[in-house]
Amino acid sequence: MKEVENKVILPLDGVDYRQACRLIDELHNEIGIFKVGFEMISRGYAGQICEYANSIGKSVFWDGKFHDIPATVAKASGIIANLPGVRMFNFHCLGGESMIAEAVKAAQEASAIRKERVMVLGVTILTSMTYANARRVGLFQQYEEFVYLNFPSDRESTEEDTLHAELVLERIEELVADLALMAKDSGADGVICSPQEIRVVRQTCGDDFVIVTPAVRPAGADHNDQARVMTPTQAIQLGANYLVIGRPILQPGSGTPLDAAKRINDEIAQALTA
Ligand code: C5P
Repeated sequence: MKEVENKVILPLDGVDYRQACRLIDELHNEIGIFKVGFEMISRGYAGQICEYANSIGKSVFWDGKFHDIPATVAKASGIIANLPGVRMFNFHCLGGESMIAEAVKAAQEASAIRKERVMVLGVTILTSMTYANARRVGLFQQYEEFVYLNFPSDRESTEEDTLHAELVLERIEELVADLALMAKDSGADGVICSPQEIRVVRQTCGDDFVIVTPAVRPAGADHNDQARVMTPTQAIQLGANYLVIGRPILQPGSGTPLDAAKRINDEIAQALTA
């Protein structure tokens, strides 16, 4: 089976097909996996990018985040898992166990046919979800009960409200760990989660579970719109298997994308031997 040693996943964001191919040519020695997301899929050339990457021996993460009824996810997963070059694809854990099981089955069947491992990963809770968003979709009710039981003081005051909100937010780690475990129990290979959640997912799901994390920034790099970031060293030391790193490579502060990718790989190599 073809194994990917390099831990960096490069999202092909904000580029057209030709630019994507140029990036794959330029960076293929420094990048383990190239990621196509909704943008490329919606533009209609994600499949061609997979073919191109595959033609030069590179792999693709199909970041299509399936979330639908099991029968539909089964069909879509079967198509994506068999595309040349696709090494990973994903689903939203909130789609539930039966849906996850269909994605897993498709990945396993494709792995057997292709004689290389096709991984299927869960998105736990989108890191863009705010407390207010999460509450509106009912995600924290069980944790709010916990907080009310343990901190039943005057909830009218602003300070109490703030404390309450912070405590509930802390419970997100438990929710992420629960969802990751559900994905694991349903046969998934791993999850995509925030760097802040690597530790709890590793503890809950064990050493063989694959953890992919975005929001990684080398020291001194622009954070862009990522709120809570970690350095590659921190993420690797906490137990991440793959790091999704886009703008620090695509728009480096100095030098070329290739220079930036090399610097990041040097940092990762050091973290792995430390
Ligand atoms: O440029 P940057 O390194 O921030 O890119 C991160 C990539 O990871 C983007 O493609 C983004 O869509 C994706 N991503 C993320 N945060 C998540 C899930 C995916 O940044 N929670």
